[in-house]
Amino acid sequence: MPLSRSGVFEASTDARLVRFSESVSFDSRLYPQDIRGSKVHAEMLCRVGILTEEESAAIQTALSEIEVELDQGKLPLRIEMEDIHMHIEQALIDRLGDVGRKLHTGRSRNDQVATDIRLWVRQACDQIDRLLADLQRAFLSRCTKDAGVILPAYTHLQRAQPVLASHYWLAYIEKLSRDRSRLADCRKRANVCPLGAAAVAGTSIPIDRHWTAEKLGFEGVAANSIDISSDRDFAVEAAFVLTMIAEHLSGWAEEWILWSTVEFGFIKLPHKFCTGSSIMPQKINPDTLELTRGKTARVVGNLQTLLVLIKGLPLAYNRDLQEDKPPLFDSFDTVQACLELAIPIVEESELQIESIAARIDQGYLDATTLMEALILKGMPQRTAHHHVGSLVGVARKKKIALADLSNEDFASVDPELFTHADSLRSALGVAGAVAAYKSYGSSQPLEVQHQIDRWTQLLAVKSPPQNSLH
Ligand code: ARG
Repeated sequence: MPLSRSGVFEASTDARLVRFSESVSFDSRLYPQDIRGSKVHAEMLCRVGILTEEESAAIQTALSEIEVELDQGKLPLRIEMEDIHMHIEQALIDRLGDVGRKLHTGRSRNDQVATDIRLWVRQACDQIDRLLADLQRAFLSRCTKDAGVILPAYTHLQRAQPVLASHYWLAYIEKLSRDRSRLADCRKRANVCPLGAAAVAGTSIPIDRHWTAEKLGFEGVAANSIDISSDRDFAVEAAFVLTMIAEHLSGWAEEWILWSTVEFGFIKLPHKFCTGSSIMPQKINPDTLELTRGKTARVVGNLQTLLVLIKGLPLAYNRDLQEDKPPLFDSFDTVQACLELAIPIVEESELQIESIAARIDQGYLDATTLMEALILKGMPQRTAHHHVGSLVGVARKKKIALADLSNEDFASVDPELFTHADSLRSALGVAGAVAAYKSYGSSQPLEVQHQIDRWTQLLAVKSPPQNSLH
């Protein structure tokens, strides 16, 4: 008989409901958090005189033993016992009898599960943050490796302007930095202690919630038991932050899938992260990147699931909330898996310098620089824009680069250009265009180096080894 079934029931639970309502199949991974919370709760009950020193000590020892059993997979998980909280409490009662029956004093499963998930999310956020920092470091290390390489920047996936490869890598570092800041913000709101809110109204047992919260490393104690026993905002926030990470990874994956094609020929992906075809022997497919892009769908879906789950829920705890865990866990697991592969792919892929250079002069990447050179000589922007468009037209017809236009070609567009042609030509070509950038945040080599130095400092502290989320 499950512990939650009091003497009020006139019949035992229907087997179909047992199967329908269990959550142990997915919440068992909360056991380390559940045991940690229970240990601190028992210690607190002892401090306020509800448990004796001996009772509290016995509970601590038994909970440690139960944790070892769970670590080793020796505690059988049975759907009849509903969830992980019940399993642990029942195992305690099996060991300690009436002493075990005292643990649930001054708490409910509502604040208990809320505490467990918050502890879990806090740790999971830290782990994702370490991986994000490592991915930033991977992009940063490419800046040295690819120093001086010029790539086309695209808008509308059409060749736009030349940029340093490092400028691309810094763009990803910035995106990931926003992800880390969102994650830190979400962690702050998750890091509030619900334990002691009990079912909904608090408790008449003289518990010390502040002591419990501090012992569990929470930054604060939730001030309203009705709110905190059912609040899942932090879970939705985490799912959103993870969605943004997945979206960023998905954009990167798509870009490198394109770059690895024969058509682009920009990058060679490490073969150990590619797969072959069972029929076409020549194929080297970028499946890791495709799956990174594809798995974003489920992360977006999980966010949607959580948003719909809490829609219209009256205060306070409703059993619907049990459904928060599968999407929340899945988003963390999926993003973790994507990051774990993104890091070595970013580190180990090789830019195809020769094939990039062979076609870097195609697409008139220096046209905007030419326009700006005319503006700097006093020509109104709209006029310069029009003239350079005409010059691109002339060059395209002659199948030559802007730098190869003759003085007469310049004059054919505007006679005034004839005298400027030589000085204009010196700023052309992709290297000239890159050197000509001036603005903060541009691809100007010194500007880029300044950003590389800034990130080198910011990312200097190496992450400690990662723990598993499981
Ligand atoms: N398994 C439940 C969940 O995850 C635990 C809380 C159940 N509370 C209750 N009053 N039935 O939400």
